[in-house]
Amino acid sequence: MPGVDGRVIIVTGAGGGLGREYALSLASQGARVVVNDLGGARDGSGQGSEMADKVVSEIEEAGGEAVANYDSVATPQGAASLLKTTLDAFGEVHGVVSNAGILRDASYAKMTDAEWDAVLQVHLYGGYYVTRALWPHLREQGYGRILVAASTSGLFGNFGQANYGAAKLGLVGLVNTLAIEGARSGITANAVAPLAATRMTEDIAPADFLEKLPPAHVAPVVTHLMSEECTDTASVFVVGGGQVQRVQQFQNAGVRFDAPPSPGEVAERWAEITDMTGAVPGKNPLG
Ligand code: NAI
Repeated sequence: MPGVDGRVIIVTGAGGGLGREYALSLASQGARVVVNDLGGARDGSGQGSEMADKVVSEIEEAGGEAVANYDSVATPQGAASLLKTTLDAFGEVHGVVSNAGILRDASYAKMTDAEWDAVLQVHLYGGYYVTRALWPHLREQGYGRILVAASTSGLFGNFGQANYGAAKLGLVGLVNTLAIEGARSGITANAVAPLAATRMTEDIAPADFLEKLPPAHVAPVVTHLMSEECTDTASVFVVGGGQVQRVQQFQNAGVRFDAPPSPGEVAERWAEITDMTGAVPGKNPLG
C-alpha cells in the first residue's frame, strides 16, 4: 500500500508535543516531512530554531527524510516562506497537518482582545494561511491531504477557552468547505481533536488522567488520515489514550410551520423541536 511513502508533508508546530509525534510517525512510513516550529513558549511568546532542528535530527537518525522550518504560521509571509522551504527541499508538496497552536486561557469576563486575537491568529488564521498557500499546488497536481487540529474545547466547549474553542471550531468549518471544493481535485480535508499529555495540557487536566494519554496514541491515526488510501473527507475524529472516535453533527426531523408561527406556537412545539430521537447526520440545505 502506498500510504504516505514518498509524500511531502508539512507538519506545523512539529517541534514538540503532538506535532513531533506526527512528524516521526509520518517519516517512519516514508514521508518526506517539513518540520515547522516557531520554537516559542506555550503562550506563543519567544522563538527559536532548536525545537524543529531536534526533531529533524531524530527523523534523520532513524533513517528518514526531513527539513526544518522556523516560520510563524500566523502570518501570510510565514506561510509563504514555509512553502518555499518545502519546495526548495523537495520540489513538491502533498499535504499539511495544521497543528501549530498556543493557549491564552482566560474566563470570558476577563479575556482581553489581545488574548482573543493571538489565539485566533495562530490556530484559525495559521490554518488558513498555510492551507491557502498550498491550495493551488494541491489542485494542480490533483492530490492533497489536509488535516487540522481541532479540539474537544471547540466541539463541546471548555471553561476559559472561548478564544481557543472559537478558533478550533472555525477550523472544522474551514475543512468542511475545503472538502467540498477539493473533492474534484483529489483533495481531502479532515480534523482531529486530539487528547494528549503535552506542555499544552500539563496543568489543565489531572496528572493521573494525563498519564493515560501519550501523544504516540494519536500519531498513527494522523498518518492514516494523511495516506493515499484514506479518502474520508470532512470528517472529525476525537483521538486519545487508545480511543479513536468519529464525531458528527446530527439534525432531527424538527417541526414544519406552513405560516410564520407566533412565539407562543413555537413554544407549544418546543419539546418536538428539541427532541433528537431519530436524528440523522445534518447537511447544508443550501449546498
Ligand atoms: P504543544 O504546545 O506541545 O505544541 C504546539 C506547537 O506549536 C509548539 O511546538 C509551538 O512551538 C508551535 N507553535 C506555536 N505557535 C506557532 C506558530 N505561530 N508557528 C509555528 N509553530 C507554532 O501542544 P500540543 O498539545 O502538542 O498541541 C498540538 C495541537 O493540538 C495544537 O493545535 C493544540 O491546540 C491541539 N490540541 C491538543 C490537545 C492536547 O490534548 N494536547 C487537545 C486539543 C487540541
